Parts: sequence; C-alpha cells; structure tokens
Amino acid sequence: MKRVSIALMALFVAPLQAAPFDKGDPARGQALHAKNCTACHGTEVYSRADRKMKTPAQLAGRISGCNANTGAGWFPEEEQHVGAYLNQTFYKFK
Ligand code: HEC
Repeated sequence: MKRVSIALMALFVAPLQAAPFDKGDPARGQALHAKNCTACHGTEVYSRADRKMKTPAQLAGRISGCNANTGAGWFPEEEQHVGAYLNQTFYKFK
C-alpha cells in the first residue's frame, strides 16, 4: 500500500516540474487571445527585445491580471490555454 501512495503522490507532484502551461491548449488560447487581448497591443509586446515577462510565473501572473483588468472573464483553464499559446509561440519558457 505504501508504494501505491508514493506513486500517487508522484502523480500530483509531477505537474509542478512539467513544462509550463502544458495543460493548456494553444489553439484555444490563440482564439481567446484574439477575442479579448488585441484592443491595446498586438503580439509585438511578447516578442520585443525588452519584453517584461522573464519567467513562466510572471507570464501566468500577467495573464491573470490582464484577464481581471479587461473583464475577459476567463476561467483558470482558459488562462492556461492562453499561457500555452503565448509560451509556445513567443516566450518559449521551458
Ligand atoms: C487596456 C489595454 C490592454 C489590454 C486590453 C490588454 N493589455 Fe496586455 N498590456 C497592455 C500594456 C500597455 C502592456 C505593456 C506594458 C509595459 O510595457 O510594461 C501590456 C503588456 C502585456 C504583457 C507583457 C509583455 C511583455 O513585456 O513580456 C502580457 C503578457 C500581456 N500584456 C497580456 C495580455 C493579455 C493576455 C490580455 C488579454 C486578457 C491583454 N494583455 C490585454 C495593455 C493591455
């Protein structure tokens, strides 16, 4: 029994070490982004040389801050989709 519970714990711990936003679906993220996030800036802010987001945690924080500020009303899963899209396409955090 002990071994089983250790294996189960590993399952819960694993996502913390997995690639950032690996639960998100980039295609859905792109659609959400196009709908809610392009009023003020295009995608150039994500690829500019002096972009501000340096870590996946900062990016996740920014996405949820912008979600709140813009009233996009995204669920956490939707923030993950957008994170997956932005990370896969622009930030490329590992
Ligand atoms: C009301 C205007 C506005 C809207 C709408 C908006 N943003 Fe932004 N966003 C900004 C501004 C202004 C900046 C640049 C701030 C700076 O230069 O530090 C920015 C920067 C960012 C950055 C950081 C880019 C970097 O430097 O790495 C991210 C990520 C971001 N926005 C995500 C989003 C997302 C996701 C949405 C949709 C929920 C969104 N934004 C909608 C105004 C907006």
